[in-house]
Amino acid sequence: MTGSSPGLAISFWDRILGEVDALITTTPPDAIPALLEAIPLDVFALLQLERPSRFGNLSNFLPTMPSGEVQESWNGAQGRELLRMSVDFVRRVVAKYKSEITKPLIESSVLDFGCGWGRLLRLMYRYVPHDQLYGVDPWKESLELCRASNLKGHLALSDYVPTSLPFDRRFDMIYAFSVFTHLSQKTARRVLSTLRHYLADSGLLFITIRPKEYWRFHDGGKEAEERIAAHDREGFSFVPHGREPIDGDITYGDTSFTLDWLADATKDEWVIDSTDYSMGDLLQVIVTLKPS
Ligand SMILES: C[S@@+](CC[C@H](N)C(=O)[O-])C[C@H]1O[C@@H](n2cnc3c(N)ncnc32)[C@H](O)[C@@H]1O
Repeated sequence: MTGSSPGLAISFWDRILGEVDALITTTPPDAIPALLEAIPLDVFALLQLERPSRFGNLSNFLPTMPSGEVQESWNGAQGRELLRMSVDFVRRVVAKYKSEITKPLIESSVLDFGCGWGRLLRLMYRYVPHDQLYGVDPWKESLELCRASNLKGHLALSDYVPTSLPFDRRFDMIYAFSVFTHLSQKTARRVLSTLRHYLADSGLLFITIRPKEYWRFHDGGKEAEERIAAHDREGFSFVPHGREPIDGDITYGDTSFTLDWLADATKDEWVIDSTDYSMGDLLQVIVTLKPS
């Protein structure tokens, strides 16, 4: 076959989107994922970017997108490029969850730890009723962006070095995308331990971590040799950002660590189940952990 195929176009799904649009305002929240199932995830994602006015009910149900500048600043990409990476992550965690956990996702509760502007939570609407979706972030601006875009779900401010979370419940799934790629060693240990108390014994935790190759891209690779040596020697490499320390520790910066470090730091609470690499972003390795 020659020639290129057209890109994803919402208009291909106009009939299905019209049907969903007609029903969404009268569908109770716990039945919405079943209604949205008719829309492929990629189309559902694109809908959020394009918000076609001919599907007014559906567009009103969806959160608005933050500016390209916000997307770049939180995620280093924007628009369709970022959407592809978001869809890729959601597809992987959903597939893993479905393959491991018997509880249907539509009955499950999900916590987005370090949710930023709600990039991933809004895609989870397709699988999980929005009143079973939770997000925390210690940065007020993240939560303000979520609220400004009308993101549904329970959102709350967390501590930078949390010993507890602002929700009094356990979750079936917790994920933290591009959060452990930024935490200091002390903070990462504390967060991993705290999250264990909030995950059901049968649940799954997904985190992303950076491989040591990351340092070749960080700051033009200037400190690559030194950072990679620390990664190999200590299992953990961290460059703090210029922020105020908390209890003598700058909690946020740029981070890589090894699976051996992770296994050792969490040996009483977590077991590393598997890793997953995505061609879309090889510097965000998805690690699945289970309670030990
Ligand atoms: C690179 S952004 C990623 C946001 C979101 N997870 C996503 O993938 O779109 C990192 C996020 O982690 C949050 N964060 C920073 N320190 C944190 C901590 N100690 N605990 C939880 N989240 C933290 C930041 O406020 C920010 O929203």
